[in-house]
Amino acid sequence: MSDESGCVHEKWREDFPIGKDADEQICRRDFIRFLTLVSGGLALGNASIWLKSLRPVEGTFDKLEVCKVTDLEPGSWTVFQYPDAKTPSILIRRESGEFVAFHQKCPHLACPVSYERSADGRGEQISCHCHNGKFDINNGQGVAGPPRELRPLRMVLLDIENDRVFATGLADFGGKS
Ligand code: FES
Repeated sequence: MSDESGCVHEKWREDFPIGKDADEQICRRDFIRFLTLVSGGLALGNASIWLKSLRPVEGTFDKLEVCKVTDLEPGSWTVFQYPDAKTPSILIRRESGEFVAFHQKCPHLACPVSYERSADGRGEQISCHCHNGKFDINNGQGVAGPPRELRPLRMVLLDIENDRVFATGLADFGGKS
């Protein structure tokens, strides 16, 4: 027999009361309701975090002097913080002499990425050593390992003025400004 809430009341409970308050007993339907509510809340929370991570960072960005052009030899790199003091980014001077910059946090599980010079017949690349992820140095797109399925590294826009390298903003995902 069940009441309006769907809870089943077995006859043996009436015949052999166990001395607990009735409201301490949880019927299967109540338990499923509780699980559904908690699972739904967790799913909504995760979905909102995921959507937020896809949204481009809005607003204007400060112009930050990163280094002098001569501070980096072709085929080398350095780390700087941009657009705020909590966001590590990498500035790479490619073997051609061109500068490129990206956020350093891997989109997979947030390990720091690093630059690798060309070697053994392969070109320059950006690597994540946690799970052997590789990124295209031209646009930050994942090309090997888990990052292949994820959003690219966020590109930092640069300006060269008077032999100094400045970070000026963030490109949209995929390297477009
Ligand atoms: S954290 Fe970078 S590939 Fe997994």
